[in-house]
Amino acid sequence: MNPHHPHAGYLSGFGNEFATEAVPGALPPHQNSPQRAPHGLYAEQLSGTAFTAPRAHNRRSWLYRIRPGAMHQPFTRLDNGRMVGRHDAVETPPNQLRWDPLPMPDAPTDFIDGWVTMAGNAGVGIHLYAANRSMEGRYFYNADAEMLLVPQEGRLHIATELGVLDLEPQEIAVIPRGVRFRAALPDGQARGYLCENFGALLRLPDLGVIGSNGLANPRDFLTPHAAFEDREGDFELVAKFGGNLWRAAIGHSPLDVVAWHGNYAPYKYDLRHFNTIGSISYDHPDPSIFLVLQAPSDTPGVDTLDFVIFPPRWLAAENTFRPPWFHRNVASEFMGLIHGQYDAKAQGFLPGGASLHNCMSGHGPDAPTFEKASVGDTTRPHKVDATMAFMFETRDVIHPTAAALASPQLQPDYYQCWQGFHKHFKDPRA
Ligand SMILES: [Fe+2]
Repeated sequence: MNPHHPHAGYLSGFGNEFATEAVPGALPPHQNSPQRAPHGLYAEQLSGTAFTAPRAHNRRSWLYRIRPGAMHQPFTRLDNGRMVGRHDAVETPPNQLRWDPLPMPDAPTDFIDGWVTMAGNAGVGIHLYAANRSMEGRYFYNADAEMLLVPQEGRLHIATELGVLDLEPQEIAVIPRGVRFRAALPDGQARGYLCENFGALLRLPDLGVIGSNGLANPRDFLTPHAAFEDREGDFELVAKFGGNLWRAAIGHSPLDVVAWHGNYAPYKYDLRHFNTIGSISYDHPDPSIFLVLQAPSDTPGVDTLDFVIFPPRWLAAENTFRPPWFHRNVASEFMGLIHGQYDAKAQGFLPGGASLHNCMSGHGPDAPTFEKASVGDTTRPHKVDATMAFMFETRDVIHPTAAALASPQLQPDYYQCWQGFHKHFKDPRA
């Protein structure tokens, strides 16, 4: 990798038509002959959208691989562990919920074993992962969803069919539905958040009056060059399919794609590159101004998943209350904290922790934050620094799992942070 070019190991751009080969000449020379594979490779199309999806949203890639993806033994059921694939099993309370971080496992646990489902709905599955062992001789794909990975602690080395993503906290990755991968842990352990997107593929939002630049810029999205494993052995291919885990024996590494071209591929993005836009006059804008990626529904302006971040930024609004205000939204909000402190809470929301504020459940700043910000000097800008929080926001109510509601990490006294507000109102007529 060229140290003078930080993107040298990756292809730059969002949703581009890429072409990459790990062995010279492995790509057919012409787009119009994709099935005539050089070097004795097999050609295989991987499509992530309906064949007839509009061109702007059509996603497919041609893979040139050592063996076809169909070559493995039959699947049998694998125990789901702490992964939950259905989200209607228990009644959902309208309470505000908050959890402490998931402890690192004691027993050897790889990325797949380390999935713990927190919540979900028709559009998303929301999970945590905590792992202390690399996936060895074990590969995974998700037929149910594309997966948005948000590492919180420890790096992930994700070898996929289409190339390798090295990921550290404050970076995110999206692994498309169906793409096979294994996750190794360069730091020995890793923890983070994982959002399955069952809806339309994540895309960059339109910018409207912001103009042609801003928020997450397309060139900062990085897709790996082709890389492959030519390995044989007694391996296991795990699939998430229909909400359950399945396993099949496979005699070779499925990461045997020597070259590929197309626009359906994994990518990563460094959240620190986000161009944060906010108020320079008065008032706190809606959090949609912090939108990184969205999964639109069939209803214009309504998304099945919004991925929103709260990065370091200057607060400059004058004569106002600068932190997030009290609110009750039609949307439901699952939040996580990657590092630092979130500016609407004085304490209790820890890096690696999570909170859930469902449809129309009142929330906002806690009492100490409100009291402090109400008398804050707004004639000077203030830097919110060394922090990275995020939100998975959905159109549907987010249903916590039975295990999440019974978790020892659930904070039973979370509601107390809104009990300390004094009555300030004095009726002037009295
Ligand atoms: Fe909120």
